[in-house]
Amino acid sequence: METMRQVLITGGAGFIGSHLADELLRHGYTVRVLDTLVEQVHGHERRPPPYLDAQVDLHVGDICDEEAVARALEGVDAVFHLAAAVGVGQSMYEIAHYTRTNNLGTAVLLEALVARPVQRLVVASSMSLYGEGLYRNGAGQRVEAGERSLEQLKRGDWELHGTDGGVLQPVPTPESKAPALASIYALSKYDQERMCLMTGRAYNFDTVALRFFNAYGPRQSLSNPYTGVLAIFASRLLNDRPPKIFEDGLQQRDFVSVYDVARACRLALESPQAAGQVFNVGSGEPQTVRSIAARLARVMGKQDIEPEIVGKYRVGDIRHCFSDISRARQVLGYEPRVTLDEGMAELSAWLAGQAAVDKVAQASAELSARGLTV
Ligand code: UD1
Repeated sequence: METMRQVLITGGAGFIGSHLADELLRHGYTVRVLDTLVEQVHGHERRPPPYLDAQVDLHVGDICDEEAVARALEGVDAVFHLAAAVGVGQSMYEIAHYTRTNNLGTAVLLEALVARPVQRLVVASSMSLYGEGLYRNGAGQRVEAGERSLEQLKRGDWELHGTDGGVLQPVPTPESKAPALASIYALSKYDQERMCLMTGRAYNFDTVALRFFNAYGPRQSLSNPYTGVLAIFASRLLNDRPPKIFEDGLQQRDFVSVYDVARACRLALESPQAAGQVFNVGSGEPQTVRSIAARLARVMGKQDIEPEIVGKYRVGDIRHCFSDISRARQVLGYEPRVTLDEGMAELSAWLAGQAAVDKVAQASAELSARGLTV
């Protein structure tokens, strides 16, 4: 492969994209970012985030704007496509917005790439396209479970059941599990990866799709719709409030540090054999929501705050999903490095700093409103 030096990250001012920018800069790449700095993530003034490395060549522009995309592609050897609207719940009412940004945005990028191909395109996909993860029934067979019924959730019957009524046991989910698309967001992520892979094949440029599991870490601010349960729990604990756990807290997820995600992205760019394939990017380790609440409290020195198990459910939630990362291990040489305790400590330190910054801003606004600042 020719050398790839100049890389474009769409959505590179966001949570995962900005960590990827750091990772690439550390490895000698030149990084350009195309990002529209959406208000929901970057605040009312839509300023470039302070964490974005000053060496990044930031183009502020929309992924659906053909001219902005063409300009951003000038001189570029490889593209990471991370620009997307990312709230699962929000995608169910802002359907046009999600479809425009995610599906049309990808279409605009692909047309630009057909006109001006790069050596490699890496597209961010999501575990959400699996719906429920893979299960094993009482006979030891692997089964793809359906969705839990509303009646069963109302009864507090949280687990998935097989045809014989027995409880199904979750097993790691490999890339071969059939998609079970349950949100506009999941559908758009599946669309994105398929569109990229089929266009890459047709026009002969290398394409890799990465299905991220529950990524967490610094810069995952609470206003970011990617904010998952770990950040929510950490911010409650920072404020000496108990985390609220849905269902019985025994649902399992796969929490992967954003540093590991960023490294997996770089490996997907650099591994020649990755072309044309889809990879899970997770930690490969299941965790129950209850256990992460307890571990987080311990890491933060807040063991005395007991989580509240509310017993309610969130419509649309899946019960268990965690990754089988064998393929990423084999082909990309990917190995998660950040332990959950290390990652949780970093996340809570970041959130504590955020709260401090917010208070500083608030305090100075109050001073200025009273004419007390010079
Ligand atoms: C969903 C998306 C995923 C996305 C992630 C973050 C699906 C299948 N997956 O994952 O693509 O990356 O959101 O946006 O749609 N919980 C609590 N208390 C809380 C908050 C959450 O108990 O205060 C529980 C939830 O009920 C769930 C688990 O924690 O069982 C994880 O929730 P969350 O972090 O929102 O992520 P997912 O639903 O796994």
